[in-house]
Formats: sequence, C-alpha cells, structure tokens
Amino acid sequence: MGNSDWKDYFDQKAAKHGASVKSSDYFDDASFFMQRDNTLRWLGELEEKTILDAGCGVGAFSEPLTKHNTVYGVDFSAKSLEFAAARGLRTKMDDLTALSFAAATFDVVLCIGVIQLIEDHMSVLKELARVTKPGGTMLIQTLHKGSIQRKLLGLFERSKKFDKMYGMDELQTAFCQCGFEKFEFLKMYHPFTFVTTGSGEKGIGNLFCTSFAIKGRKKID
Ligand SMILES: C[S@@+](CC[C@H](N)C(=O)[O-])C[C@H]1O[C@@H](n2cnc3c(N)ncnc32)[C@H](O)[C@@H]1O
Repeated sequence: MGNSDWKDYFDQKAAKHGASVKSSDYFDDASFFMQRDNTLRWLGELEEKTILDAGCGVGAFSEPLTKHNTVYGVDFSAKSLEFAAARGLRTKMDDLTALSFAAATFDVVLCIGVIQLIEDHMSVLKELARVTKPGGTMLIQTLHKGSIQRKLLGLFERSKKFDKMYGMDELQTAFCQCGFEKFEFLKMYHPFTFVTTGSGEKGIGNLFCTSFAIKGRKKID
C-alpha cells in the first residue's frame, strides 16, 4: 500500500477502535503491553527529556514517558492523533519523510512498528536522525526478516499487508550511515513472552526472533 492508503487505513482503524491499541494494529492488549513494557525498561529511566514518538498512532506506547518528560507525537493519521493528545502527547500531523521540526530537537526518538509500512525506509531514518540531538538516542522497532515463524506464516498468508521486514545487520548499517554508534538490540520471540538483549544477527536463537528493536547513540562531532 502507498502512503495515502496507510493514512486512510489508520484513520479508519482509529474511528473504529478509538483509543484501543487495536487502532495501531496490535493483536491484543497482552502482546502490546509485553512489547511496550520490555522496550521502555530496556530504554531506561528518562527524566526531563524531549522525546519524539514518530508514528505514534493513538499514543499508547509512549504514554508512560509523558509523566516525567515532554513527549511529541507525530503521525499522518489525524484521527489517531486525537487519542494520542488525550494521553498527554503534544501532537503534530506530519509525514515522517519530511518532518517540520528543526535539526537536533530531541534527546530521544522512538519509532515503533512503523518502518515495515515504509517503502523507502532510509528517507525516514535520515529525518529521524536529523532531528536527534548529538549524543541523543534513536530507537526503532520492527519485524525481523530472518524469523522462521514469519517465513512459515508467509506461506499461508493471503494478504501481505506488512510484508516489509528487516535484518538486524541491515538496520545497524542504516544507523551507521545516519551517524549513529554504540548499538544494542532487544529481541522478541512471538508467541513467547521472553526477550533477550545483545548485539546483532549472530546466533541460532535469532532464527526465532520475530521482531526486534535497535537503539544507537548519535555521534558527537
Ligand atoms: C502500526 S502503527 C504503530 C503506532 C505506534 N507506534 C504504536 O506502536 O502503538 C503505525 C503508525 O505509523 C503511522 N505512519 C505510517 N507511515 C507514516 C508516515 N509516512 N508519516 C507519519 N505517520 C506514519 C500510521 O498512521 C500509524 O499510526
């Protein structure tokens, strides 16, 4: 699907499911909270930071961060942003390929479950990198290309809605190209609820990793 189709798709989801994480296409609350809580724990305690939730949907992922930080939520689905605003995010309708924020605005940039929808992911990564402060953190979570479960599902799936997936090394290279260093990974293994951390694509366990997050620090010149 192209950009305008995705915008309509998420507007319709939010009109139907409201503030629920179903509006952001999570399977159910349990899988959402498993991903969110593990990811935020791994990101670490944050206080008085300026944070961007890029492709925030209804804002449920970054809502806990609003308590001690200023969180901006950007999305192209106006309907989703209504719910994100009610959760305490400062919302802005924007396209992630051309953000209207000045360079080096944010201490932390999160982009959760979005780049699997994006045809040209480098255009988004470059924008997210541009608005990250030197020394700041960028964290991207997405689907893992090497997953055996996803390959098996792909054999039976009729709709290839989310068929863009990523290798860990591929995203690490993209982070490097955008001026980041000090990479770490968080790996998830649906339908299991445990997570592991470490470096990239090595090890047989990665064959069962269904989605992962990568975080890196923007170099200080
Ligand atoms: C699967 S949802 C994830 C929402 C949220 N990050 C979460 O994890 O709860 C993907 C979101 O990305 C937004 N999105 C996709 N492409 C976008 C783009 N080019 N610009 C702005 N938002 C975009 C969609 O509107 C949707 O709200």
